[in-house]
Order: sequence, then C-alpha cells, then structure tokens
Amino acid sequence: MGKRILFISCGKRNGNTWQAAQVVARSAGNSGAETMLIEAGRLEGIGRGCIGCMKCQKSAEFGCVLGDEVAELIMEMPKYDMIVFCVPVYFFSFNTQAKGVIDRLMGMVKYDGEKFSSPLEGKRFALLVTSGGNESDSGVKALRMSYRYLVDYFSGKHCGELYFADCDAQDGGLKNDIDMPSQARQFGKLLAEQIG
Ligand SMILES: Cc1cc2nc3c(=O)[nH]c(=O)nc-3n(C[C@H](O)[C@H](O)[C@H](O)COP(=O)(O)O)c2cc1C
Repeated sequence: MGKRILFISCGKRNGNTWQAAQVVARSAGNSGAETMLIEAGRLEGIGRGCIGCMKCQKSAEFGCVLGDEVAELIMEMPKYDMIVFCVPVYFFSFNTQAKGVIDRLMGMVKYDGEKFSSPLEGKRFALLVTSGGNESDSGVKALRMSYRYLVDYFSGKHCGELYFADCDAQDGGLKNDIDMPSQARQFGKLLAEQIG
C-alpha cells in the first residue's frame, strides 16, 4: 500500500481552513503521498449528524444506515493511512461540519460494553485548526482535547497539528498571511514522511 492521506476540510467554501488545507495536501502530495482533499460541507447529509439510531451496533457490518455521502466517506476511511481533520473553531469547539463527520464514526465501531473493534483501530490522525482568537481565548484547547480523546478511542497515533490563530474571518483571509504557505508546506511534508 502507498501513502494515502485523507484530508477532511470542514470550514466554509474558500475559507481559511480550506486555504491552508489545500497547501498542506499539495505539499503532502509533492512529498510522495497519494492525497484526497474533500470538503465536508459539500457532502449530502452533513447537517444531519448522527441520529443515534444505533442500527450500526445491531448489524455485523461496519457502516452507517443513513446511506448518504457522509456514510460513504466513513466507509472509505479504512483505505487511508492517515486522516487529517481540518477544522475551524466555532464557539470553542468543532464546527457543525466537523461534528457531522466525527459523530458518524460510530458506524465504524462495534462496542458491546466490553470488546471494542473498528477497522480504524490504530489509524494515524492529524489536525489542522484555524481560529479567530488565539491559543488562550479561542477554545482551541477544548477542541484539541476532544480530538485527542477521539484518537485515543481508536488507539490511533497523533501525527501532528498545525494551528493558525488570529484568522481574519473574511473569506479565506488566511491566504494573505505571508507565513501560512511555508508553515503549511512544512506540515504537509511532515505528514507524508510519517507514513512508511
Ligand atoms: C459561528 C462562528 C463561531 C466562531 N467561534 C469562534 C470561537 O469560538 N473561537 C475563535 O477563536 N474563533 C471563532 N470563530 C472564528 C473562526 O474560527 C475563524 O474565522 C476560522 O478561521 C474560520 O474558518 P473558515 O474560514 O475555514 O470557515 C467563529 C466564527 C464563526 C462564523
């Protein structure tokens, strides 16, 4: 298997997160990874989230019975060596689009109260975050903690984080930050290098 990295960009169309995610993904590609960059906000069913029907836990198969594009996305995840969540901080947490993907991961888990199994067990993960505030006032610490619980839940490996604070909330203002491209390129290279 080659180096396959899935980037899930959860910000708005052409927004800050998307601007940075594009550079990171391109750099990872130039460093030998096969990359896929998707916009979570464009997926059919993204706003629905997980409805908690628990049908995924009553079936022997992994997957989500909602059968939409978010369900298709989670089923694709095992094919990748690394999953990179690219997210803006909204009200001190993941935004809706990020949660719309993350909550559906229930479909990729079987847990009977004792035994846990998942095709995502041991997966590599990484995080790209943008926020309007900074390290101390944005809420990035809460988001980061939630992400780390997620990685631990899958007995995964955290492969790195890139954080852009003080992002202008206007459309993709981060693209005008002179330091963004070099930081994003370096991060993309680092991610690709972490897959053998
Ligand atoms: C509804 C909303 C809530 C936000 N909440 C926060 C927040 O809690 N902390 C923060 O630092 N920035 C917050 N921001 C600013 C965004 O995190 C920041 O502008 C981010 O880069 C937007 O990413 P995007 O352009 O990819 O959508 C918020 C923006 C919006 C629209």
